[in-house]
Amino acid sequence: MASTPLYTLLCLGTACVLFFLSGGLSLKYDILGRNESLNFSSVSTSGCQLTYTSRGVNASCTNLNLHSVPEGLPYNTTVLDLSRNVIETLYNKSFTYLPDIIKLDLSYNNITAIEGGTFKPLGINEIHVLQLTLGFIKNIVPLNQSIHHPHHSPKIHLINLVSNYLISFQDFVFWGLNQTNILKLGYNFISTLSNYTFCGLDQLIEIDLSDNNLIYLPEGMFFCNKVLQKLRLNRNKIQSWSGSTISNLCSLNHLNLSGNKIKNIDNGTQTFPSLEYLDLSLNAITYIQFIPLQIYTNLKILDMSNNDLFWILPNTFSGLTNLKELYLTNELLTHYSKPFQYMSNLHILDLSSAIQDMTSDVTLFTNLTSLKRLFLCKNNLQSRHLFDTLTSRSLFTNLETLLTLDLRENDLDMLAPGTFNPLKKLEILLLSQSSVKVLFTGVFEGLTSLKALDLSDNYISSISDDVFPIQSQLSVLNMSNNNLGIISMTLFNINPDFQSLYIQHNKITTIKRGTIFPKNFTIDASRNPLGCTCDLRWFVKWLRLSNVEVIHPNDTLCSQSSIKDMVESPILSFNPDKYCGINILLITSVSLTGILVVALSLLAYWKRWWFNYKAFLLRLAICGYKEMVQDFEDHDYEYQLNLMFQEEDQEWVDDIMKPVLQERFPHLERVVFGDNDLHLGMFYINALHYAVENSFKTVLLLSNNSVREAWFITKVRIALEELNDSKLDKVILFFLEDIDDEDLPYLVRLFLSKNKPYMLWTDDEDGQKLFWAQFEKSMRSNKELNSVIPV
Ligand SMILES: *[C@@H]1O[C@H](CO)[C@@H](O)[C@H](O)[C@H]1NC(C)=O
Ligand SMILES: *[C@@H]1O[C@H](CO)[C@@H](O)[C@H](O)[C@H]1NC(C)=O
Ligand SMILES: *[C@@H]1O[C@H](CO)[C@@H](O)[C@H](O)[C@H]1NC(C)=O
Ligand SMILES: *[C@@H]1O[C@H](CO)[C@@H](O)[C@H](O)[C@H]1NC(C)=O
Ligand SMILES: *[C@@H]1O[C@H](CO)[C@@H](O)[C@H](O)[C@H]1NC(C)=O
Repeated sequence: MASTPLYTLLCLGTACVLFFLSGGLSLKYDILGRNESLNFSSVSTSGCQLTYTSRGVNASCTNLNLHSVPEGLPYNTTVLDLSRNVIETLYNKSFTYLPDIIKLDLSYNNITAIEGGTFKPLGINEIHVLQLTLGFIKNIVPLNQSIHHPHHSPKIHLINLVSNYLISFQDFVFWGLNQTNILKLGYNFISTLSNYTFCGLDQLIEIDLSDNNLIYLPEGMFFCNKVLQKLRLNRNKIQSWSGSTISNLCSLNHLNLSGNKIKNIDNGTQTFPSLEYLDLSLNAITYIQFIPLQIYTNLKILDMSNNDLFWILPNTFSGLTNLKELYLTNELLTHYSKPFQYMSNLHILDLSSAIQDMTSDVTLFTNLTSLKRLFLCKNNLQSRHLFDTLTSRSLFTNLETLLTLDLRENDLDMLAPGTFNPLKKLEILLLSQSSVKVLFTGVFEGLTSLKALDLSDNYISSISDDVFPIQSQLSVLNMSNNNLGIISMTLFNINPDFQSLYIQHNKITTIKRGTIFPKNFTIDASRNPLGCTCDLRWFVKWLRLSNVEVIHPNDTLCSQSSIKDMVESPILSFNPDKYCGINILLITSVSLTGILVVALSLLAYWKRWWFNYKAFLLRLAICGYKEMVQDFEDHDYEYQLNLMFQEEDQEWVDDIMKPVLQERFPHLERVVFGDNDLHLGMFYINALHYAVENSFKTVLLLSNNSVREAWFITKVRIALEELNDSKLDKVILFFLEDIDDEDLPYLVRLFLSKNKPYMLWTDDEDGQKLFWAQFEKSMRSNKELNSVIPV
């Protein structure tokens, strides 16, 4: 993906949590760090590789086909690795001569049974880590309690039995291991447990039962393990979860129930103030009744992703006022109202692909006043969900602490200015693959802290200078895979610390001379049809001389319209001096012809309206009105004419349009003059639709002011939709003044590109004559439309 740099930044947050949860503990207990200073190595009589360290000897006896613990290892062996051998049984007193062992690895052997608490007879008194993974252990034989003496119980901090063949246990099977803190039983075939299985493990802090076949857990399952803090039951087949399973666990902090088949939660009423992490993801919870989650009064992290949750009641999360992170990705939410109203401490909210039916309620996130990261990708969000134009209220109102906003893969073709205004602290905004077509002036105005903006994979064809705030912090902009044709000359003047620009795969043919780029930065302009002509000369020279890093230089090629020799060559190999020498003769001859042409054009320009008017009358005389299909019928339409304009242009309507209509077009009696004449009993949008549908002609008044307003664009859109629906050419554009091409909204350009009628108002008298003549002609009929405009 072209946009990797942004995602790397993003993933850090989640990754850190995962790293902490998974790796943190093992790191802490990895007593013999890898940076240990080594003294020397040797090989023992039994073939073990011995490494002498300041703490003792590390003996590595792997892959030696050993049947038993080898004899003759140094007395001060602290680490003994016996993995990958063929040991079947461990004989009494095997380890008696190795009293210093703190780490013993017996993984990958042929041991099928071990005696639960009876490591003592083997000669083990105290050991930190006992590895028995990846073996064939089917059975753990319990200690005979009647012959057990207290001083027999060995001290083993961690017992790892991951990936064996354990299916079930006798009661009290771990009796005698009352000093063990961590027991790992993951990746076995355990299907049943009783509430006496783990009795004897009085000091157990963490138990891992993940990846087994557990379906049901009995009441009071861990009643013997009073100090248990971390319980992993993920990836089993548990169907319903009951709070009584973990009753009396006053220290339980971390509960992972992810990847089970839980449909119902019955938590009872006991509260669990110690629980801070609860993972219920990848289950089958489709809705949550109102009590269950409230009992976890101190919950900090809740993951309920991938549950097909469709219903959240207003008080579902009401007890979770201390929640910091809430993950609800991949749900089917359709019924939810104010679900987050009590979460004023929430930092991370992940709703990616969660919402099936987005609410039009823009107060959804109002109470999340501490939120730092909000993920809303893949939710079919539309621009109207983010900004209510009627109340001018943004969905992000109150989210003043937000740093990251992810809106990727939605349907945000026209973002309304004002949408992002509340996000004063936002640093990363992701909008890629969101069908964005137009960027209105000022759409990112409030984003004064924005550092990275991803707009890749959209349909943007232009971006104007004033799209970013004046005091912008922007340093990474990704606009790759769009339809950009030109880069505005001062766009990057906003921030001297601008770092990276990704504009690969657009339609850029040239970079205008004088375009301002920052001093030290990175650019990817590959896969654009850049024409290597003398116009691009300055850019190529500048790339070579300044401190600019060009990404994919060998993919940044000269297009077909380049100087012949350069076609398909990297632009950095373009040597303009070779082709673009100064040619005096050419310049002089060009300038003489130039003066003549300019003089003639000036004359034509000065009298252009007179020319145009005469040409129009001539055309009318020759062609008549043959092309017309629908003659004007008074009674077919409720209104004869519908004028749509913004408040700023009211003056023009009052001073010019109204008097002319009265004087020259007295038959036009039923006219809608803008918003004031709209149907009163309707909502605004509906009233706009109504006026357009029921008018013979709709005229849109364009001025430099109106094209900047979101509401006006909405009017243009409504008019175009009606054009498509009625298949009649019933819309005309009036340009009240010259508007720069760059300022024209996308929809207007689309309209003009289809040769639709427009008229230009001028101060010139002949120009005005032409204007009214064209207007008169167009008011007589509506042409039939033969193609649809892709709105
Ligand atoms: C080890 O010693 C115990 C008694 O301390 C005895 O019950 C057991 O059978 C012995 N195991 C082996 C394999 O010799
Ligand atoms: C436990 O030890 C006692 C005394 O040695 C013996 O009588 C009893 O059969 C043993 N129980 C088991 C289950 O081996
Ligand atoms: C372990 O249990 C024995 C009795 O079986 C007891 O004497 C000892 O104090 C216990 N140790 C711990 C740490 O609870
Ligand atoms: C053990 O489980 C049984 C049934 O599964 C239950 O009746 C009993 O109360 C539980 N014991 C404890 C101490 O919770
Ligand atoms: C949520 O915010 C709204 C508006 O800001 C406020 O009226 C309401 O009291 C808040 N609710 C809670 C539970 O804080």
